[in-house]
Amino acid sequence: MHDILPKDQKYWERIRVLSRAIFSYYNFSRIDTPHLEDSELFLQAVGFQTDIVEKQTYSLKTEGGDELTLRPEGTASTVRAYLQNGFVAEPHPVKFYYQGAFFRHESPQRGRYRELNQLGLEVIGDQNPVADAEVIHVFSVLLRELGIREFFFHVNSVGCKDCRPSYRSHLIQYYRPKAKGLCRDCKKRLKQNPLRLLDCKEEKCRILKKGTPQILDHICEACKKHFTLMLEFLDENEIPYILNPYLVRGLDYYTKTVFEIFTDSDWVGELEDVKDEEKKEPPLEISANDAAGGTENPAAVVEARPEEKKILKGIAIGAGGRYDDLVSLLGGRSEPAVGGTLGLERLVMLMKAVGVKLPEEPRMRVFFVQLGDFAKKKSFKIIEELRRAGIPLGESLGRDSVKSQLKIADKSGSDYSLILGQKEAIDSTIIIREMSSGIQEVIPQEMLVETLRKKLKR
Ligand code: HAM
Repeated sequence: MHDILPKDQKYWERIRVLSRAIFSYYNFSRIDTPHLEDSELFLQAVGFQTDIVEKQTYSLKTEGGDELTLRPEGTASTVRAYLQNGFVAEPHPVKFYYQGAFFRHESPQRGRYRELNQLGLEVIGDQNPVADAEVIHVFSVLLRELGIREFFFHVNSVGCKDCRPSYRSHLIQYYRPKAKGLCRDCKKRLKQNPLRLLDCKEEKCRILKKGTPQILDHICEACKKHFTLMLEFLDENEIPYILNPYLVRGLDYYTKTVFEIFTDSDWVGELEDVKDEEKKEPPLEISANDAAGGTENPAAVVEARPEEKKILKGIAIGAGGRYDDLVSLLGGRSEPAVGGTLGLERLVMLMKAVGVKLPEEPRMRVFFVQLGDFAKKKSFKIIEELRRAGIPLGESLGRDSVKSQLKIADKSGSDYSLILGQKEAIDSTIIIREMSSGIQEVIPQEMLVETLRKKLKR
């Protein structure tokens, strides 16, 4: 868990301001859900055999016997809130966005936190692939507006409840004779959740993975069509993507489209310790046509460049996908849905690493200096008048000596200091001192805003 220090707040604020504007433009409404939910919600939605629920949730039992969990992600809570607050009766799709802290007890690494911040989008009640593409598009708009030029979406389809079981059995057939060569976790996954075998980072499992049957060859016609159409939206809008047949995601609720966002800036290599031998492995060989059922649009294929080798092993700055069965699983009528989230700690690291230029903070141009108890007491009124007039001001009200206050004014780079002594406080006047020349003039306090405005304009 970490502190977000004042020096970094400008990055966070930039993300907040831009995302609010872009998400509202695309008609997403803000929702905030509690940090604590019934543990059952995540057991059901994320899946009781997933790493997140099995190993990473912070859960507690209250004296009253409630079993609660600090939210590890936002999709389950958003669907719960949708169901509990009458959104079912509203025109669909219902589009939400959220930003907040989530909690996962993961092993600490650079870029991986136990309290993490996410920015999420969820669209409930739209089965059309344009909704999947819109989520991806809106994230790409935000990333570009934030000044990030190099990023791409890994995309795949994990099929639906009708076609996935058949792929599952092909996968089991492939892995069963090789089970001895798998890591301990994967031996368990083979029984419980074989799709997760594709996601294992262990070297020996990754070697075995190379011969696996590919999910896109096994999904049904409806899922294939949905995926192809979704890719066509990405092509048309020049959204950079890579078809990654091994992308399966670590949460159980996904159906059809899944995606993760990576970037090829150097920072990714720093986020996760990629072993040297891993760096030598060739990039994935995939083409749009393999997966998109023969769609001809090679312009959309992003060729894997040498740096991308790192990224293929790297850490995602965002992820998401479709979850058509989650609303009904949580007790609602069947509603298709899709969404995604960006990981803000990683996004801020990326903004810093690529040297994103942020709007300058207004420079402090005036410093307020006071002398004596009576002047100190009058200070707030004068400062407040300047705040209302939009004049940025520095002060050091706790100090008594004029000399030390002027020293700070000098250091702050202010053009003027305002000096209020006992005499000025009684007369309702104030001294304006030009810092560069030391020239001072006394003016009535009622003229202060007007005089300063003129001087600052010059
Ligand atoms: P997720 O892949 O678990 O998906 O997390 C999304 C993003 O959150 C990741 O790509 C990463 O950037 C960030 N993230 C996850 N864990 C950490 C961590 N420990 N430290 C820092 N950043 C982290 C979800 O959470 C889904 N709810 C996404 C979604 C929304 N799917 C549909 N709608």
